[in-house]
Amino acid sequence: MTTSPIETKAMQLLSKMTLDEKLGQLSQTCGAGGHIPQYLVEGIQKGRVSSVINEVDLATVNELQRIAKEESRLGIPLLIGRDVIHGFKTIFPIPLGQAAAWSPELVEKGARIAALESARAGVNWTFAPMIDIARDPRWGRIAESLGEDPFLCSQLGVAMVKGFQSDDLSTNGAIAACAKHFVGYGASESGRDYNTTNIPENELRNVHLQPFYFAAKSGVASFMSSFSDLNGVPASGNQWLLKQILRDEWQYKGLVVSDWESIKELKVHGLSASDKDSARLAAKAGIDIEMQSTCYIDNMKALIDESKIQESEIDSLVLNVLQTKFALGLFDQAYTDLSTLPAYLNHEHLSAAKEAAQKSCVLLQNQSRNGASPILPLNKNDTKRIAVIGPLANDGYEQLGTWVFDGEEQHSISCLSGLKEIVNEGTEIKFEPVFASSRDKDTQQFEKALSITEQADVAILFLGEESILSGEAHCRSNIDLPGAQNELIEYLSQSSTPIVLVILAGRPLTIQPIVNKIDSILYAWHPGTMGGIAIAEILFGDACPSGKLPVTFPRVVGQVPIYYAQKNSGRPAAEWSYVHIDDVPQRAPQTSLGMAATHLDTHFTPLYSFGFGLSYAEFAYHDVNISDNKIVIGESFSVTLKVENKSEIDADEIVQLYIRDLVGSVTRPVKELKGFQRVYVKAKSIVNVNFELHTDDLAFYDINNKLNVEAGDFLLGVGKDSSLELNVAFELIN
Ligand code: BGC
Repeated sequence: MTTSPIETKAMQLLSKMTLDEKLGQLSQTCGAGGHIPQYLVEGIQKGRVSSVINEVDLATVNELQRIAKEESRLGIPLLIGRDVIHGFKTIFPIPLGQAAAWSPELVEKGARIAALESARAGVNWTFAPMIDIARDPRWGRIAESLGEDPFLCSQLGVAMVKGFQSDDLSTNGAIAACAKHFVGYGASESGRDYNTTNIPENELRNVHLQPFYFAAKSGVASFMSSFSDLNGVPASGNQWLLKQILRDEWQYKGLVVSDWESIKELKVHGLSASDKDSARLAAKAGIDIEMQSTCYIDNMKALIDESKIQESEIDSLVLNVLQTKFALGLFDQAYTDLSTLPAYLNHEHLSAAKEAAQKSCVLLQNQSRNGASPILPLNKNDTKRIAVIGPLANDGYEQLGTWVFDGEEQHSISCLSGLKEIVNEGTEIKFEPVFASSRDKDTQQFEKALSITEQADVAILFLGEESILSGEAHCRSNIDLPGAQNELIEYLSQSSTPIVLVILAGRPLTIQPIVNKIDSILYAWHPGTMGGIAIAEILFGDACPSGKLPVTFPRVVGQVPIYYAQKNSGRPAAEWSYVHIDDVPQRAPQTSLGMAATHLDTHFTPLYSFGFGLSYAEFAYHDVNISDNKIVIGESFSVTLKVENKSEIDADEIVQLYIRDLVGSVTRPVKELKGFQRVYVKAKSIVNVNFELHTDDLAFYDINNKLNVEAGDFLLGVGKDSSLELNVAFELIN
């Protein structure tokens, strides 16, 4: 194997380092927020700090870099880490919202802007993308995820990495990305954050590892080990995961960082008896940088003296850190060069954020309660009096969502301001928040809200969840609209005024109880800085909704986990055999029920399927064709179709391609997404859509956990969402 110039430079530098300096390169510490305490000055001077997290005051960051460059013996620059998750100053929709746009281009652009803005504060390393597969809406971090599907998540994750890092990490404004949390974190038992995960190896490989594999191949600069216990061995001390899979199988050469104190927590998990042993386990697994805790720096010398760790093992960790610093170009330019970085919140950034917010909105329902034509889009000329209701209508902070450290409320366009900006002059808007927060149970303002609803041509409700109800450590066992919001909807539904519900939330909520009480539902997630104007334009038809769900919406929380790519089981649920609890005869004999994989008390389908989303336009799919019905393994094939826009409105449609591998050495999901395209179709016209696939795209980890393409029969379908029928048969042959 040849050595790259960066490896050579790193090795040369390593050869000059003392053991103390080497251990220093494995340590990340927290900044103090705009000043530099003496311990940090001394730590950097002595070469005992490799990276600082959470310092975003530029003058302070530059001074930290200066101390590292000029006052430490070897002048090694610092990695400056920050969670830049969905924007820095210009806040984009939460990642789950961005995923609903099904647009790698938009995700890449958003990450690029986040990188450019955070680079202005001296940040050179972000802890994103989070590419944990999330199939449990109780888990608060579903907000930060790219949804339930490995294919969609992989495509968007890779796009995000590219956006943060650009093509060359050393260019000004490129920052190192981090694929997290490796791995399985999203499968925490009962959707409780940090909880145990038990994931069979085959599922791990076919589902949870997939986005990480693609991120590694795309050149993501770093990985973060998960907090969670994976099949009995917490990820941060898991040699099988971090050594065998990541380094040996995938040949990953980048940097691995622990999660916040996750090395220290190995003891809490019960994997080690002491911090010292935690340090040993994490180093053996190959974690290069310890985030926040100090197990490495406090114990590694003793571990080396006792021959429990070899210095050569430490050397390989240090090399990964140094190589990352060289790749970022920090040895040549550690200080931030503002001259080539665009201003915060500039016009281009804001319009990208607006486009992302708009394309991430999912229209879930658009039918009027009295059977008249759809309520949306609203007509500006006919809508003269609007009742705007709800605690999230005029709250620039809550629309930003979880993991916003640097975005500021004052830059947000709230939903109310967006509406005011867009309506015709003279349109009367009456606003009643009703609740102090989304959790509020006080019903005192219900009467007032009903009265302004009754006087209006339309009532627009902005309900959902405040930012803090999702995100890390904010899990819920009940995912209904919190507080008394269901009661409010019920109360307002007495009025015959059309009601449009806009939901701002960090997760799928169980909205089944209220869907029949209102007319239209637009799911806007937490849409970020430009959310208000993006939503207003959709409501009034200046933009057409085009988002599709990146995650299944359950009817009731008891259905969780519910996701489209389930296995068939031996007794799949079916309409003909489904029996509802109310229809079970009393004293029915044991076998009289459906004998299928269903719940008695709720239908087996979700409320909204993965991939679902309505449009103001009407699309029809025609002529789905596969290039050949017998495809030789190792070859490419194509699927073509026509998408017709039958309406008078130009609009985007997200075309989705699913397959089913009918027989496998391990059972395969009933549907798997294998392609998607966001296509623009002008009113009353037809576009041709073409998917190029290769049989490698149909590979999966087989009974021996080897990646393999198995010959046999498949079905394929292309359409609007995952509830489509797979009606094109084809065969893979050897
Ligand atoms: C989270 C990580 C995050 C880190 C640093 C942890 O609590 O799990 O995702 O990057 O903190 O803020």
